[in-house]
Amino acid sequence: MLAADPKDADALLGAIRAEAAHGRHPRIVVPLNDWTVDSANAVNRALGLGGLDATTVTNARNKHAMKEALLAAGVRTPRSRLVESEQELLAAVEELGLPVVIKPYDFGGSGGVVLATTREEALAGLAESKGVIAQYGEAFNILGDKYLVEQMVDSDDEVSVEVLCGAGRARVLAVTEKYLSPRPWFAELAHLVPSHRTGDRELTELAEAACTALGIDRGLAHVEIKFGADGAPWVIEVAARPGGDGIMDQVERAYALNPYALHIGSYLGTDLLDVAAAAVPTRTSAIAFLKAAPGRIEDVLDGKPLPPEVRTINISAKPGDVSQAAKNWSTREGLIELEWDELFGAKTDLPVTTARDLADQIFVMGEAAG
Ligand SMILES: Nc1ncnc2c1ncn2[C@@H]1O[C@H](COP(=O)(O)OP(=O)(O)OP(=O)(O)O)[C@@H](O)[C@H]1O
Ligand SMILES: [Mg+2]
Repeated sequence: MLAADPKDADALLGAIRAEAAHGRHPRIVVPLNDWTVDSANAVNRALGLGGLDATTVTNARNKHAMKEALLAAGVRTPRSRLVESEQELLAAVEELGLPVVIKPYDFGGSGGVVLATTREEALAGLAESKGVIAQYGEAFNILGDKYLVEQMVDSDDEVSVEVLCGAGRARVLAVTEKYLSPRPWFAELAHLVPSHRTGDRELTELAEAACTALGIDRGLAHVEIKFGADGAPWVIEVAARPGGDGIMDQVERAYALNPYALHIGSYLGTDLLDVAAAAVPTRTSAIAFLKAAPGRIEDVLDGKPLPPEVRTINISAKPGDVSQAAKNWSTREGLIELEWDELFGAKTDLPVTTARDLADQIFVMGEAAG
């Protein structure tokens, strides 16, 4: 274990050079989350180990650069404008038309992602988004000085796609069905693998084209795709790392294959695209987040009997905590993981309804918060 800030390439290089004095050298540095894509690949390049090039890292971390690269390659993604001030925001709303989605251009976890259906909501949304960055920006080492205003893809149908990348090619490993919170936020409530849309040709081709458009040439990428009211798929964003939120564990259970082995193997230079393309799911696995009703949590009743499909439960809230409406990753009170021996042929609400039933039993609420 090296003692260094994983977000800081210079600190990592210092720690690695100290190890080199003892004859220990890394073969490759593999990023597992958004906050380390830049630093890991800067270290890889500095040490001559390969890794993603700097432009690709920018394409994957800066949502504005990403949109430009996707559009330039003809990949379907909502039109957007980069804004800083209220004046620029209103001009963007004028140009794009309502509703719009406002988001920081370099954050994640749905933090500060807000829907606006009026000019007033847009102004309030920008202020809210700036507030989220003021709270979390420093801890995550992000600038948050600019915001993206996007045309909205208007439905609640969304998937994320795990794609294994190679030089100029990419292959879909798994499609995950995503469950979203009520609007105006887009918090993730649950993820289920495999989505009933697995194998859909248009979806597969769009996800693979998005990765090659950004120049991602190794490792797993996590592509988020939302369907318009007419069913057409639109790329929301692409991350040059495996999915978070426990999705990799669900992929492993559904496919009996460890996706990190593909990610790391690919960074080490092995071509595993055929392995990804040939993977077949044999069961269904899901993760769903526990959400207490808004208000003060008086008591937490652990030890309730669980339905047979619930394989793990993890409660993070304690008595005295205040629960807020589902807004982003920070407003969760716990999680469950579920497993079924069958594959679902259509979208099932079971992850969300099971989590809701359990949360209602577990969290004893006091008076409602404002
Ligand atoms: N243009 C859009 N139209 C419709 N919905 C959108 C749009 N942009 C974002 N969303 C919704 O908001 C969610 C979060 O947006 P986005 O992925 O850009 O932010 P993020 O903070 O990187 O999210 P996360 O880390 O949770 O994936 C999306 O998954 C989607 O549900
Ligand atoms: Mg996202």
